[in-house]
Amino acid sequence: MTDQDASVTTVRVGLLGCGTVGTSIANLIHRQRDEIATRTGIRLDVTRIAVRDLSVDRGIELAHPAAEVFTGDAMAVAVADDVDVVIELIGGVDLPRTLISAALDAGKPVVTGNKALLADHGAELFAKAEANRVDLLFEAAVAAGIPLMRPLRESLLGEPIRRVLGIINGTTNFILTKMTEEGASYDETLAEAQALGYAEADPTADVEGFDAGAKAAIIATIAFGVEVVADDVHHEGISTITASDIEYATRSGHVIKLIATAERVGEADEVAVRVHPTLVPLDHPLAAVRDSFNAVFIEGGAVGELMLYGRGAGGDPTASAVLGDLIDAASNLRSSSYARFGPLPRASVQAIEQLIDTCYSLTILVTDEPGVLSKVADAFGRHNVSIRSMEQEGLDDEARLIFITHQAAERDVRETLAELKALDSVRDIGSVLRVVSS
Ligand code: HSE
Repeated sequence: MTDQDASVTTVRVGLLGCGTVGTSIANLIHRQRDEIATRTGIRLDVTRIAVRDLSVDRGIELAHPAAEVFTGDAMAVAVADDVDVVIELIGGVDLPRTLISAALDAGKPVVTGNKALLADHGAELFAKAEANRVDLLFEAAVAAGIPLMRPLRESLLGEPIRRVLGIINGTTNFILTKMTEEGASYDETLAEAQALGYAEADPTADVEGFDAGAKAAIIATIAFGVEVVADDVHHEGISTITASDIEYATRSGHVIKLIATAERVGEADEVAVRVHPTLVPLDHPLAAVRDSFNAVFIEGGAVGELMLYGRGAGGDPTASAVLGDLIDAASNLRSSSYARFGPLPRASVQAIEQLIDTCYSLTILVTDEPGVLSKVADAFGRHNVSIRSMEQEGLDDEARLIFITHQAAERDVRETLAELKALDSVRDIGSVLRVVSS
């Protein structure tokens, strides 16, 4: 950190990784640095960029000769004397964990967008930042361009947050929106999402809920002040959602969304965190979140309900989140302060089997013959699952039954389904969807 004159402080930035987001942040800093200097008194100066392949021209505008800035040695950047703040955008877990630890131990604030790392090792790194009295900021790790981490950490810190519901994966929201609005099949829509660059060639992380699960762990950690890791999050994906599930959702006044839920439950300060396809009533604000957009709906105490909406992926939206953190870290460095965070005790996490107050939509394919409906209804009754509505559609010699239940316990619903599966007249159990409760 150097003072050029009394009113402007230069903060030197080291960038670890220069892919899509790294290129966007380097160019955004270059474009905005005069305005940032005018408004904050801080001039950001990218002095070091660590890349794997030095031969690639990344089209970045720099204030210094490229030969002085680019290096293949990431560790040298993480601890460099001419770097005041480190930005980590490498991705993966092991290498960034080592680099961030080294930077924090060298007394350098770190900004990262690495959700996988924070969802597995966040508490360890936050404790290291605290021990070194420097910032570890991570707005870009969840819902990219949507300011979410800072509102949860600062504006809403005193709120007794009850529940957070999020659409935090753009790829799956794009697929579900297309299926809903165009009647397209899952496979067709996934292929389109891949052609448009939303979905990876191997879409598993997005469509099976791993990506949203990691983000949900971070949201729960920040919202409730306890350590929740990715493995604590129950996740189900959207690959089994059919066109007839979507049609039924529409007919019954719902839309299917991949919803991440983080909530406080029970008496003993437990939290429950899960990601699964969910029926959302059309009058809920999350139902209106279309295409690849993300949104997070927060149910607080004093504040009531609020929703944050925007772009959850992409180079420029993610760079916007990184730049906000960078300016914050640079300002804190100038005033010799940092954002305190922690300690984070390990969360007591409720298992999905202990969920007790959710409504379900259950699709069951049966042989279309006399007496079947009463056998199915009996199974619900024996396990204490109360039916709120039922729709039957005849399909030649079989019928599709779709039940919506009143609030029920997950364990009871699972036992009902196990009993139904064993009946001769039940040909298949279709989708099992939970319904957003108020
Ligand atoms: N693949 C993610 C999404 C973005 O589709 O939202 C990165 O987390």
